[in-house]
Amino acid sequence: MHTVLITGANRGIGLEFCRQYAAEGWRVLACSREPDKADALAKLAALYPGLIALHTLDVADHARIERLAQELGGESIDLLINNAGVYPDSDTLGFGHTDYAEWLQAFRINTMAPLKMAETFAPHLARGKQKVIVAITSKMGSITDNAGGGSYLYRSSKAALNMVVKSLAIDLKPGGITAVVFHPGWVQTDMGGPNAMIPAAQSVSGMRKMIGRLTAADSGKFFGYDGQEILW
Ligand SMILES: NC(=O)c1ccc[n+]([C@@H]2O[C@H](COP(=O)([O-])OP(=O)(O)OC[C@H]3O[C@@H](n4cnc5c(N)ncnc54)[C@H](OP(=O)(O)O)[C@@H]3O)[C@@H](O)[C@H]2O)c1
Repeated sequence: MHTVLITGANRGIGLEFCRQYAAEGWRVLACSREPDKADALAKLAALYPGLIALHTLDVADHARIERLAQELGGESIDLLINNAGVYPDSDTLGFGHTDYAEWLQAFRINTMAPLKMAETFAPHLARGKQKVIVAITSKMGSITDNAGGGSYLYRSSKAALNMVVKSLAIDLKPGGITAVVFHPGWVQTDMGGPNAMIPAAQSVSGMRKMIGRLTAADSGKFFGYDGQEILW
């Protein structure tokens, strides 16, 4: 049986990843800040007894990340999905309204946490069969694609995440671990809003299809949910 660890598993794209991997019979380590309040995730877990395990994880809390790794002991993880992310409020206000404390927090969650997760769970991934790290980035982190300006905090945190994953792909290659970033599309979630272009189910099924096909040669690449490569 394959095992996937998903951050931000209580809603949006993370919850949909849980739903689809559990439906395929994967063991899902579903991590969220407050599992007690994660009603949709708890309902999903009840549909798949023994398959979805709920774990408390604020990805900005490095001590908690390390404790989770200890709790999971010698278990193996096939796929790590760094999905948790934030779009900072002050980004909606534009130039001249930057909240620098919020920027730092966005970096903690969007950029530093995926590296800390990779550093902490590399031994679990090394024991897995698939050995894949996915980080959910955004096209807004593409420098080539930036024609609209603004969104300094979000764009920079995702551009930096892209660079983190590029280095991970190189550093983890000798251990057979593949690391990629995915733009999920503009998705109907709390972050994407109701006018977004695609439902989470479509985004996640596209990403899952591509994740299932990844080879070592794909490591360090930036994909869209439809499997198309995106320019950095
Ligand atoms: N939706 C889109 O159109 C879109 C487009 C491009 C990229 N993305 C990326 O896709 C990923 C998922 O986004 P989404 O649309 O599903 O957003 P969402 O509906 O706003 O969900 C965000 C998730 O991240 C979690 N999270 C935030 N801060 C966290 C922390 N410190 N520790 C642990 N979990 C934390 C949230 O948990 P709480 O419930 O506890 O806050 C929630 O589960 C993000 O990385 C986002 O940047 C989304």
